[in-house]
Amino acid sequence: MPFWLILPLSLALILTSGQSATATLKEISLLEPRLSGPMSLEEAMAMRRSVRSFREAPLELAELSQLLWAAQGITEDRRGFRTTPSAGATYPLEVYIAAGSVNDLPPGLYKYEAQEHKLTELAKGDLRGALYDAALRQRCVKNAPIVIIIAAAYGRTMARYGERGIRYAHMEAGHSAQNICLQAISLGLGSVVVGAFNDESVKMVLSLPQNESPLYLVPIGRP
Ligand SMILES: Cc1cc2nc3c(=O)[nH]c(=O)nc-3n(C[C@H](O)[C@H](O)[C@H](O)COP(=O)(O)O)c2cc1C
Repeated sequence: MPFWLILPLSLALILTSGQSATATLKEISLLEPRLSGPMSLEEAMAMRRSVRSFREAPLELAELSQLLWAAQGITEDRRGFRTTPSAGATYPLEVYIAAGSVNDLPPGLYKYEAQEHKLTELAKGDLRGALYDAALRQRCVKNAPIVIIIAAAYGRTMARYGERGIRYAHMEAGHSAQNICLQAISLGLGSVVVGAFNDESVKMVLSLPQNESPLYLVPIGRP
């Protein structure tokens, strides 16, 4: 086959396979976040404590929706600003959910799409057991109904700030995780931030893109 025919043909193949992969991804819309709650910020801060054992009760999808909004939700449409500050508004963080027990959400791996406040299903099945192994067998990772994973695509922030962008991304993960913990308290839930895990194993369990690094696992459930 002549070269001039091979190139457009292979390009068409790549495009077609990319499109079909996207078409099979299931999307789940989330409830609008609520902007008022039963607890003051001061009470939530005073009550926050790491919780590592959870009841078997499932979470509600509305609770997950609220937690994800706290993690990275858009709060100003025009400029795309979020619930957390971001160095130069470069937004290096990505948020994933290993769901095990959530009403109206099958066990699986999901990605939070902040712009549209929705979930994209990335994989079916319960990944908490594999995450537990990757997180030095910390039981809270296996027993929580959900684990929120915060990952960073450092390149977005490093493109503007060079090496310092790494530090900024870590700071941003702290902002996001704290929002999640305080939102959890306000919903009557418990959470713990987990930093002790094998990076490569977590990357593999979640099939993270090459340019993303996991920074925090946050198991959440009913205390
Ligand atoms: C960066 C960081 C990493 C942490 N990693 C873990 C962890 O891997 N496992 C765990 O059970 N707790 C972890 N924690 C939670 C701390 O153990 C906990 O915050 C500390 O004991 C204070 O208790 P408190 O959160 O109830 O105030 C981590 C906390 C931070 C800030």
